[in-house]
Parts: sequence; structure tokens; C-alpha cells
Amino acid sequence: MTDGLRNLDPALRHAWHSLCRAGELTIAPRSFTLLGERYVAYRSPEGEARVFLDRCPHRFAPLSLGSCEGENLRCVYHGWVFDADGDCVEIPALGEDAALPARAKLTGPDGVTESHGMVFVAPETPLTPVPRIDSAYDPAFQQGDLPVIETRANAGLLADNFLDMAHFPFIHSGTFGAGEAREVPNYSVTREGYTFTAAYEHEFANREDPGVEEGIRPLLQRRRLTYRYTAPFHLELAIEFLDSGGTNVIGFFLTPVDDENVRVYSSLWRDDLDGSEERMGDAIDFEIAVVNEDLQLQSRYEVLELPLDITAEVHTRADKTTVELRRILGEFARTARG
Ligand code: FES
Ligand SMILES: [Fe+2]
Repeated sequence: MTDGLRNLDPALRHAWHSLCRAGELTIAPRSFTLLGERYVAYRSPEGEARVFLDRCPHRFAPLSLGSCEGENLRCVYHGWVFDADGDCVEIPALGEDAALPARAKLTGPDGVTESHGMVFVAPETPLTPVPRIDSAYDPAFQQGDLPVIETRANAGLLADNFLDMAHFPFIHSGTFGAGEAREVPNYSVTREGYTFTAAYEHEFANREDPGVEEGIRPLLQRRRLTYRYTAPFHLELAIEFLDSGGTNVIGFFLTPVDDENVRVYSSLWRDDLDGSEERMGDAIDFEIAVVNEDLQLQSRYEVLELPLDITAEVHTRADKTTVELRRILGEFARTARG
């Protein structure tokens, strides 16, 4: 066995994963694949997110083709009914008052929870914390969601790519990278359990600031970038414009679908758009172009695996965040594999 992290590594069952956006759940059951397994998910009339394996225990029919009846879920094939805990409460073929088999029970993940407008699932006891974007709870920010992207990729390599600071002038030369400095400033990484934060401030040419044209502010301005990582595949980048004001937050949540595919959930939180949907639409279009620049490369990797052996690749001081990513995922995988 290689010491790399593939999408279907069994260790990943012991972590929280993004299953879908909260708004995707209604009383009509839907199917979502995570770690090679299909789950049925729906929202109960009381507003609770309910998630089970998408397989009826009777003849393994997909429960996502069934329907909700109040709190309960009815299978489309023979009409068995399961309650909110997954226990079978009705088998029409047996008539009323029949004893129901004890094994007539749905299998659920260990944990289901919601955070910043997304549904997270832990297939087995999670070792990692639930991610949270604080700006999502701050009324000063407006939220915009990118369309969900499903692509051939490795979730670990995509997390690595989001944290990487040295690729901007190259991969992103068609969007924001052209004016970016090639040299990565010195920065420090602060680890806490299976999470870390990395921040640095630098000067950049703020060509979008109207205050420059008006002569109120200089072209060269200060910007603080803060990366927050939560294992295994939850990422946040906050960009604070220290002179012109305003904060842009990018959230990036990667769902390992199967061995070769990842779902990418990305959202923006901005406090500088005056509530304008049109400006948010432009920001989303720009971010889609940025993500596509990254995915063009990431989808072409021959080996879809994040190396966890720190000596396998060549690292420099510009790679501190991505080395920390490997350390954390290495520790996590060793602990979870037992
Ligand atoms: S397969 Fe679901 S009730 Fe028979
Ligand atoms: Fe990138």
C-alpha cells in the first residue's frame, strides 16, 4: 500500500464531509454520493436534515425514488415505511398488527449536521471538527454560491491547490494572477488539532479601488490574506483590504465522490458589494473562471493521490501551508486507520 491519500481511503470515513447545500434538501428525497456510497437525503416537515444509505433493507431498492409521508419515508418498491430513526413501522404486504423484522432498519451515517448553509455527514465517528465560516453568520456579509462542480480529481490535491500560494502568476495568468508577485512572502502557520490558520500581509496594486483614481489612496495598498483549514477537505480564504476597506471570503468544500471524482462546493461572502446581486453575479463568474484554471490542471493528474510521506516530494519555505496539510492528513490517516 502506498502512503498516499486517495479519495476512497477508509480513514476518510472518520471525518465530516460536505454532502450537499442545505437548500438542496426538500421533502422530496434525493441521492448524493459520498466516499463511494449513495445516500438518500431529505428535509423533514420539521426542517431536520435526514440522511440514510440509499438502499432499502428489503430488496435494496433506491430509497431516493420513494417519498416522504410526514416524518416518514416510504420505499417506492413494496411500500415499506421507515420513521425518522430509520426503524420500519409498516410493511403493507403483512397487513396491520404484524410483527416487523428487527433487521428492517435503515443504515444512517454516524453524524449529520448543518453549518453555514451546508449539510455535513460523518460516515463513522469523526475525529475532526465540523467546519464553520463565521462570515456566514455576520449580517454585514452577502453570500453567493458557485454552481456545484463535479470533476475528475483527488480531494487532497484540490485542498493542496487551494492552499498553494506560488501558482498564482502561472496558472491564474488569465484571471487575477498576471499582476501578482512571484515571490511568496514569509508567513507562519498556526496549528490547532486537525486545523490550521496561516496569515500574511503584503502590498499589492489595487487597480479596482476607485479611491486611487480620485487621489484619496495610493495605488500600492496593504492586503491581509488568512487561510483557515479544517481536515480533511474544508478551506477558507479571507482577503481583507486594509486601506480601501472590505473583506472577501472564499469557502471551498471538497466531497470525495469516488476514487476518481470530487464535488466542489464553493461560496463567496462579501461585505463590500452594497447588497448588489449584479456585482455578486460578476464576482461569482470571475471565481468560476479562477476555479476552472485550477481544475484544468488538477483533472489531468495521472495518479490521483496526495502524497503523505513528507520526503516524497520537494518542498520549499514557500510551501508551508501545503506541508502542514500533509502532516495533518498523515496524522489523521494513521489515527483513523488505527
Ligand atoms: S425494496 Fe423497499 S420495500 Fe421492498
Ligand atoms: Fe488556484
